[in-house]
Amino acid sequence: MPPAVRLVPFSAAHLEAFAPMTADPDVLRYTRFPDPPEPDFPRVWLARYDAGRADGTKEAFAILDGVGDDGELLGVALAVDVDRATGEAELGCLVAPGARGRGVATAAVRQLTAWALEQGLARLVLMIAADNTGSRTVAERCGYALERVEEDAELRPGRRGTLTLYVFSSESNGAPQDSRSSGGGTL
Ligand SMILES: CC(C)(COP(=O)(O)OP(=O)(O)OC[C@H]1O[C@@H](n2cnc3c(N)ncnc32)[C@H](O)[C@@H]1OP(=O)(O)O)[C@@H](O)C(=O)NCCC(=O)NCCS
Repeated sequence: MPPAVRLVPFSAAHLEAFAPMTADPDVLRYTRFPDPPEPDFPRVWLARYDAGRADGTKEAFAILDGVGDDGELLGVALAVDVDRATGEAELGCLVAPGARGRGVATAAVRQLTAWALEQGLARLVLMIAADNTGSRTVAERCGYALERVEEDAELRPGRRGTLTLYVFSSESNGAPQDSRSSGGGTL
């Protein structure tokens, strides 16, 4: 049974619960969040997403537990970079350490993918460090296909390595898949 999670627009109300996630070692390893963490970063990050929401180039969702209005914040699901002219978007996701390993990211990326398709976006991209097994598994379970492997890519400032590009194309996929096959986002 997939966990009941809900995506709601991320807002200032979520910042307090979000802040510790920005200092999690795996988040620092696999995203472009500043390392060492900067105390003001969550607020600056939200301001960037608020601006992107206003001009249609970004969207941030809080992943909430359950169906009630006051569900716990489990993570964030992001449209990092939306290009409405080409119909392409880079998506991403992170889950709080205590909520991992029970299908939260898989459920959230499925909902994020459905949202992006509803927006008329046709080519959805997840950029994942090759050694990020969990994230690659999530991508494949959500119907994304490995399109490209880039050696010696910049995974985050100061860290190079192998990057994988997973793509969901509305032409080849249709609706989000429920694949069970096994397998650094910029966020
Ligand atoms: C990657 C991440 C989003 C996965 O979140 P999650 O909610 O644990 O993912 P799911 O539970 O949906 O996992 C799907 C599958 O991947 C597996 N998996 C998750 N993390 C894993 C890991 N670190 N190593 C190996 N497998 C992993 C899960 O066990 C599950 O498989 P199973 O059903 O057979 O057990 C989460 O670990 C995270 O936030 N990491 C840090 C930030 C990050 O890497 N973001 C993605 C950037 S591209």
